[in-house]
Amino acid sequence: MFITFEGTDGSGKTTQVGQTAEVLRARGYQVLLTREPGGTSIGDQIRQVLLGMKSQGMHPRAELLLFSASRAQLVEEVIRPHLADGGIVICDRFYDSTYAYQGYGHGLDLTDLRAITHFATGGLTPDLTVFLDIAPEDSLQRRLSSLEKGGEWNRLDDMALAFHRRVRQGYHTLAAAEPKRWVSINAARPISEVQSEILSTLERRLPPVRQEMAGVTSA
Ligand code: TYD
Repeated sequence: MFITFEGTDGSGKTTQVGQTAEVLRARGYQVLLTREPGGTSIGDQIRQVLLGMKSQGMHPRAELLLFSASRAQLVEEVIRPHLADGGIVICDRFYDSTYAYQGYGHGLDLTDLRAITHFATGGLTPDLTVFLDIAPEDSLQRRLSSLEKGGEWNRLDDMALAFHRRVRQGYHTLAAAEPKRWVSINAARPISEVQSEILSTLERRLPPVRQEMAGVTSA
């Protein structure tokens, strides 16, 4: 089963993804946790170019192709082999981020994005996408307080509030178009409440644990 997590910056996604993977592993599922951009050595190098403050002048089309290159490598090197072994893959962002950020956020043509995405993934689609929904005003507040505790600030965090509003609206449109794949969760609540809603959603959809597969894998 291939599960992706999506959300605007500061939705608490990375914390929730980590906790979810731990719980599922403790229950005996073979879980591989990975993230975009990155997740492979080549992808991590691309990530540095994409998110580095040195890349201020990057054109949205160049940005799209770099995200897609990182994704192509991740799909072939990591995701498909683990799925073929019968494991669960959890990915912190996948192609819906491209539609939301480069498409709805930057205004790139969605038909072009779909074609490039299909090329990059070879047609791989998540079985379930968990969307952590929070208003950009609230998540910005979170990001600022995490910075005070030593959190990171990247180039894409620097985008204006209006951009983040378009991204969120884009996610709503994507979720409405594929209601069977998407589950939206209100992320403006305490971490533990959001986590238990994620787990109850997953419990309804996960296959039974395969005893011969039970084990722990990390990416
Ligand atoms: P990251 O530090 O991983 O942020 P987060 O914890 O919010 O996932 O940075 C990823 C940034 O890249 C984030 O701002 C979203 C953006 N992004 C895109 O614009 N397009 C994409 O296709 C992907 C995968 C990410």
